Amino acid sequence: MDPQLAELADLAIRWVHVIAGIMWIGNSLLFNWLDRNLEQSSITGEGLQGEIWLLHSGGFYFVEKTMLAGRSLPSGRQLHWFKWQAYITWLSGAALLVVVYYVGARALLVDPSVSALSTSQGVGVGVGAIVGGWLSYELLWRVVAPRSMTGAALLSLGALVALAVALTAALSGRAAFLHFGAVLGTIMAGNVLTTIMPSQRALVRAVEAGGRPDPGIAAIAKTRSIHNNYLTFPVILLMVSSHFPAIYGHQLAWLQLLVLTAAGAAVRHLLNVRFTFRQWVPALATTVTVAALLVNIVMRLPDARVTAPSAGDDALPAVVSFAEAQRILDRRCAACHSNAPSDVSLGMMPAGIAFDEPEQTQALAARIRERAVTTHTMPPGNKTRITDRERAILARWIEQGAPIR
Ligand code: HEC
Repeated sequence: MDPQLAELADLAIRWVHVIAGIMWIGNSLLFNWLDRNLEQSSITGEGLQGEIWLLHSGGFYFVEKTMLAGRSLPSGRQLHWFKWQAYITWLSGAALLVVVYYVGARALLVDPSVSALSTSQGVGVGVGAIVGGWLSYELLWRVVAPRSMTGAALLSLGALVALAVALTAALSGRAAFLHFGAVLGTIMAGNVLTTIMPSQRALVRAVEAGGRPDPGIAAIAKTRSIHNNYLTFPVILLMVSSHFPAIYGHQLAWLQLLVLTAAGAAVRHLLNVRFTFRQWVPALATTVTVAALLVNIVMRLPDARVTAPSAGDDALPAVVSFAEAQRILDRRCAACHSNAPSDVSLGMMPAGIAFDEPEQTQALAARIRERAVTTHTMPPGNKTRITDRERAILARWIEQGAPIR
């Protein structure tokens, strides 16, 4: 694909995706908040579940939650449904996945230092994880849950661990994080499509017929809504995880993935119960601190895939000149990071970084070390086949203060 067109497509789809996602999650959080803050109705009527006064947009809102018992259903146009936010978020996310990860698959999706998968196999793993993950979830919560809720919950947690391990063993760290988030996001959108909307249609039909809705259907939909609520925070983090190479680039990325997912769900939980749980502030502080400590510890554990250059390595020049460092950058990085790039498959001058000017290169020394030495997240998927020795030479040049003269 033409790189400029690809960038424009990325921009347009990403914009839609972020806006739809904000609308979906925003609605969902607002309704969740409403449900937890409803006051018992002062007007006692059959079917009334609660009411609440809100102040916003220069006026007072009075919202009443009711099962309508006996009252007639508002006409189609007066009754507002919420579903397109979810569907558009999922559809635009799927399109973005194709544009960013599957079209540029060689560099972003697979990584030879992680697995020997070809790009098409990588696409197979990615799509397989999303479809398989969603089907497994549906199976667990349709077939196992009615017999044993605990069983379904434990199997779901086990499946999440297995998914994290499998994805990080197959795909590049960055793609593994994104796909883990995509599986969770697909489960969420799937819940809206297969369970929550049908339950709402059943509710409307029952009220129209003057009867009561089947409480069983409503209970299942409630479970799925709770799952969605707990998944929102992890998914949002996973969707922006490509900014954190020190986390996704580590050999133990699967553990980071699980710690962050658990932390996101735990924070969501504490925010859910804060209206009734008085100790929620210290609990929240503890959760965030423990998660940050764990992530920090794992991030600093030695990574067997990254061979640290040792100070006494005779095979390396004792003093690395700038010319030598520049030669490596020209050979392994300039294909993308240059004002005249030869590889534009990942966009023009990615991250706005070029190694054409010595001063600019020197200013970027710490980031070069982070991406090409400490983590092996540059070049992406080692597309330009940088060697460990070359990484070590870059490290030594930076260790010596990254001199440019
Ligand atoms: C195939 C293209 C490609 C090659 C080759 C490449 N990069 Fe990158 N680089 C990218 C892309 C895409 C991004 C933006 C996404 C990201 O940050 O992961 C990026 C971002 C960066 C960043 C900025 C982000 C940050 O974390 O500060 C640095 C620094 C960087 N690369 C260093 C390097 C170095 C050093 C090399 C050579 C050893 C290199 N890159 C080779 C594509 C490339």
